[in-house]
Amino acid sequence: MGTLLVRGGTVVSASGRTEADVLVDGERIVAVLQPGSTLLGHDLASSVDTVVDATGKYVIPGGIDAHTHMELPFGGTNASDTFETGTTAAAWGGTTSIIDFAVQKTGEAVETGLAAWHEKAGGNCAVDYGFHQIIGGVDEQSLKAMETLVDEGITSYKLFMAYPGVFYSDDAQILKAMQKAADLGLMTMMHAENGPAIDVLAEQLYNQGKTTPYFHGIARAWQLEEEATHRAIMLADLTGAPLYVVHVSAKQAVEQLAAARDRGKNVFGETCPQYLYLSLEEQLGATGDPTWGDFEGAKWVCSTPLRSRAEGHQDAMWQGLRTNDLQMVSTDHCPFCMKDQKELGRGDFRAIPNGIGSIEHRMDLLYQGVVTGEITLERWVELTSTTPARMFGLYGTKGVIAPGADADIVVYDPAGHTSIGLEKTHHMNMDHSAWEGFEIDGHVDVVISRGDVLVSDGAFHGRAGHGRFLKRGLTQYLT
Ligand code: URP
Ligand code: ZN
Ligand code: ZN
Repeated sequence: MGTLLVRGGTVVSASGRTEADVLVDGERIVAVLQPGSTLLGHDLASSVDTVVDATGKYVIPGGIDAHTHMELPFGGTNASDTFETGTTAAAWGGTTSIIDFAVQKTGEAVETGLAAWHEKAGGNCAVDYGFHQIIGGVDEQSLKAMETLVDEGITSYKLFMAYPGVFYSDDAQILKAMQKAADLGLMTMMHAENGPAIDVLAEQLYNQGKTTPYFHGIARAWQLEEEATHRAIMLADLTGAPLYVVHVSAKQAVEQLAAARDRGKNVFGETCPQYLYLSLEEQLGATGDPTWGDFEGAKWVCSTPLRSRAEGHQDAMWQGLRTNDLQMVSTDHCPFCMKDQKELGRGDFRAIPNGIGSIEHRMDLLYQGVVTGEITLERWVELTSTTPARMFGLYGTKGVIAPGADADIVVYDPAGHTSIGLEKTHHMNMDHSAWEGFEIDGHVDVVISRGDVLVSDGAFHGRAGHGRFLKRGLTQYLT
């Protein structure tokens, strides 16, 4: 570790950009200096242990992916990335912190679920990691257990209005959990889709012989995302609990968030790269891969679903990111292989494990939005690092390049190029890429986590066990 100087780059923050050198001592940033500054002694570059040349490149705070599911049990199988493979892929892509979801299954103690997640992640992560807590069964016991979460450094929890019989909470359960969360200062994260109504539509489609992945998107109609989003907002309003709606994909859901925010409510929304770039027509309806035929769309089965481009949902997501009606972009990284996993739903889209793998590509995919003029360079940093840190109680240590912050630094080359695909850049434990063929006008050159260079010169120098558990504080984002 020792001392390190990132020299000659443009340091980009959520609020601006400046030419500066960044000095690191041990795990922390200790100074942000004028280029070539001799303030701290002559020829700093020759006195530090490591010099990283960032000439012509952007120097940004390490990415924070606040929505991942390593090893998640789902649909009769487990998400295919372990904490080791998933966080290694994260590092390759410029993400130096993740927040994964610890799971309390219905009937299980919250403490048991949380302990299992510590067991899976501990000693195995290449980058730093925190947890949100899924409460899969709201009852007296789990409500009581929520009281200890803040002390554990877990200051957010997730409820599901979808997936009846699995993680689903009804309105009475949601109300009780939100009341408790409002008392404790916990952020309520909501999967906002009307699960019971979806299940009826899905069964009707199946009985009509409409069994391919495309119909996953038809069953999960936007009306059922809008309705659930509105219901969650109203329950949050009633209880005073701050609300963060995860994986927003319907433009009508963004309208609900915007309306609540216009009323001054602490209501926030996250979208994901798949809802910015991919669609019902092109991906869920895909048939081009000869191995899979009309089952190819299974690669992109996730919930909320990919939505119709003709209806304008993707454009609305970019717009929401510009207007701050959506505050963050996370991946909802939940990878499954086609072979033996997605395949479980061949002939019945309801049995396809839900999820897409993107952890390696989030920074690049969002940077492409800078290239195409959808967002500014500063907004890119804000959406992928600074706001995730503030939203989930990490800001100051993470999400910023400033003295005292952890030395989580990415050197990004705007003149570089990244070709995404299984045979190109791919470190996730999957047998396909949801992003095959995507070309990015930019490249993650160097990735530093707490002063250690994890990626440079196209090689990985990190290790499982470098990543530490992040005990998070309360949200720093409330109005
Ligand atoms: O399809 C998804 N999103 N899978 C992961 C579980 C969830 O709902 O976030
Ligand atoms: Zn969800
Ligand atoms: Zn998720």
